[in-house]
Amino acid sequence: MTTPPTLTADFLARRHGLFIDGEFVGAVDGRTFETIDPGTGKVLGKVAEASERDVDRAVAAARRAAEGPWAAMSPSERGRIVHRVGDLIAEHAEELAELESLDSGKPASAALGVEIPLAADMFWYMAGAARRITGTTVTPSVPYMPGQEFHAYTTREPLGVAGQIIPWNVPILMAAWKLAPALATGNTVVLKPAEQTPLTALRIGELLNEAGVPPGVVNIVPGFGERAGAHLAAHDGVDKIAFTGSTEVGRSIVRAAAGNLKRVSLELGGKSPNIVLDDADADAAIAGAALAIFYNQGEVCSAGSRLYVHESQFDRVVEGLAEHASGIRVGYGLDPDTDMGPLVSAEHFDRVRRYLDLSKDSGGRTLTGGSALDRDGYYVQPSVIARPDRDHPIVREEIFGPVVTALPFSDIDDLAAQANDTVYGLAAGVWTRDLSKAHRLAKRLKAGTVHVNTYHVFGSELPFGGYKQSGWGREKGDAVLEQYLETKSVVVAL
Ligand code: NAI
Ligand code: MG
Repeated sequence: MTTPPTLTADFLARRHGLFIDGEFVGAVDGRTFETIDPGTGKVLGKVAEASERDVDRAVAAARRAAEGPWAAMSPSERGRIVHRVGDLIAEHAEELAELESLDSGKPASAALGVEIPLAADMFWYMAGAARRITGTTVTPSVPYMPGQEFHAYTTREPLGVAGQIIPWNVPILMAAWKLAPALATGNTVVLKPAEQTPLTALRIGELLNEAGVPPGVVNIVPGFGERAGAHLAAHDGVDKIAFTGSTEVGRSIVRAAAGNLKRVSLELGGKSPNIVLDDADADAAIAGAALAIFYNQGEVCSAGSRLYVHESQFDRVVEGLAEHASGIRVGYGLDPDTDMGPLVSAEHFDRVRRYLDLSKDSGGRTLTGGSALDRDGYYVQPSVIARPDRDHPIVREEIFGPVVTALPFSDIDDLAAQANDTVYGLAAGVWTRDLSKAHRLAKRLKAGTVHVNTYHVFGSELPFGGYKQSGWGREKGDAVLEQYLETKSVVVAL
């Protein structure tokens, strides 16, 4: 059943232009692309498609704004504008949730209950950060200038123009994680949303105007990765590129950035281990393992996609998880009874189905799920695969869907080695009643976030990012501010 949208009718009826210099405009070459409702497979709307020339226009607008009123504004004023963006997102939460669900497939309830409140909070948190950007005083000892005294200090300055490229899995939250710190630190932005999900970013463009963000400070250029995205990443007028997406494209971003050596931060893929020790509360671990892999159809970079359970609890936990999975209601995102929506696109649906097919030769047993649903739209079953071979692709590669592999362990050293035996290092989970074991294992896991007796905690204060091929740098928390600031040393001879 599909419930017709109600709150987004006005927005959907508008022409969806590029957002450049505070206005919505057509692409220079007049091109548009279609965005699809993955719950039905039908076209939701047409959006202006940015070409290289449109990206150039957006970068020029961002440069003017970086050197104009935005730079002259006090941190307090800037902070208040950033705070208002958060307020407006919160005020329009229901409308944004509906739009996010239509464009990405996710349950509107998840957008409304989790992601939009987090997005608003990221702006509120960063509003305060705008006023806490400070330097230090330093007393240099200079051996070749004996007797000379100095007064020296450091200042933090914005980098200038930030290019930001975001994915389709949590579009509003990814926009918030990128925009809020860039704005708080006084940078200006060219944001490229994913071609699968351009709509909420454009609605946020409208809200940025309403919040009083000056024209050109944020420019939004929907378009394709190989064209608009690649041009932005290589652009000589861009001082920094922040990217979230696949590890493969992350590598191409690094290469593209080499031309002008722009700063690069990357938040990439994952294959995160979720570990249940012998003394864990099994019921809590089952619920946590389900959240870790099935939230957002498993389309989460930090999803707990490799479940490791101590042999003594294996059958109970893994069968409990399979039972939980078979009770998940897969359906249309706007249907209030839906727990899990469709995957984002036909392309991604094919990719996940290929992994489900591969799992038949994995040496493991599919306890539940294992196939697509026979209906319009891109729906797959939540799937639990027990005891596959350790080296099978379904255990090693990021699937980015509702598919979890479960493996037993009995020795903690072997477990730690298996957990870390991946090119990724984004997140991990540990379930135990023994605090000492929890902290010891947390220390051994090579992951940017380790959850203990919980999973998917995304508070704005917490730095988020990856070890190894999961990325460079951190988002959120105060750690992200480093990614948007230069440090200047000023030395005065007294
Ligand atoms: P992708 O990495 O191609 O797309 C992410 C963003 O990068 C989009 O905005 C896209 O337009 C842009 N992009 C693509 N190619 C580009 C290029 N050459 N230069 C600049 N920007 C470019 O990811 P895709 O194809 O949508 O998904 C493939 C896989 O990537 C997924 O199955 C999943 O494993 C992983 N992924 C990871 C995400 C994460 O949050 N870390 C998010 C999305 C995908
Ligand atoms: Mg779409």
